[in-house]
Amino acid sequence: MKIEAFGVEHFYAHEKVLNGVDIEILSGSFIAIIGESGSGKTTLLSILSTLLQPSLGTVRYDGKLLQELGSIDRFRRTNIGFVFQFHYLISYLTLRENVALAALDTTRIDPLLSELGIEKLGGRYSDEVSGGERQRAAIARALINRPSVVFADEPTGNLDTKNALGVYELFKRFASEGTGFVVASHDKKIADYADIIIEMEDGIVKQIHKR
Ligand SMILES: Nc1ncnc2c1ncn2[C@@H]1O[C@H](COP(=O)(O)OP(=O)(O)OP(=O)(O)O)[C@@H](O)[C@H]1O
Ligand SMILES: [Mg+2]
Repeated sequence: MKIEAFGVEHFYAHEKVLNGVDIEILSGSFIAIIGESGSGKTTLLSILSTLLQPSLGTVRYDGKLLQELGSIDRFRRTNIGFVFQFHYLISYLTLRENVALAALDTTRIDPLLSELGIEKLGGRYSDEVSGGERQRAAIARALINRPSVVFADEPTGNLDTKNALGVYELFKRFASEGTGFVVASHDKKIADYADIIIEMEDGIVKQIHKR
């Protein structure tokens, strides 16, 4: 899938926090959005991932505007995965059940848990595993329907360095197999793993680095 943002501006009340963003992203790459706190990363990620409508400008998905896509629920379910800083797993369900809740095809769950190295933990509740393991379960939930693109906002904000690098490795591996990742992060180390680094400053794209 190709996502194109053109002239995107965003205001919260009267405060302009995105000041004209033009970017084009293709699924199959690992894109990092970095920048200081308040630079607009979450706002941009929310707009690109269909969660927030920009105040001005357009975002197209394979050439189509959101309102031209038909059912937005179905578009999200089949094309997009989400990962957040605080995983948002349901604590009353096991890791496997959390993934099953989202799965269109439950036969994929066990192979995916294995790929993520948490196959032995599928029967545990989220408060019975470590933060890194929990985040891997949340990543499994985001990947289960093989979306074109996974959007993640500070997915490693809650993890130590070792677990954070493990998550970037996973993103890199799945990206090489065709899933796109767009990841907003404070962590500059993400730049060692991403294919494209979009650097935000005060609501604009300051620089785009490609590796
Ligand atoms: N819901 C909101 N209402 C009003 N202002 C907001 C809202 N969300 C964000 N802002 C403001 O918009 C600006 C950009 O915020 P955003 O969350 O996009 O930044 P960020 O780069 O993700 O920051 P962080 O690294 O701290 O997560 C900030 O000045 C912030 O205070
Ligand atoms: Mg943010």
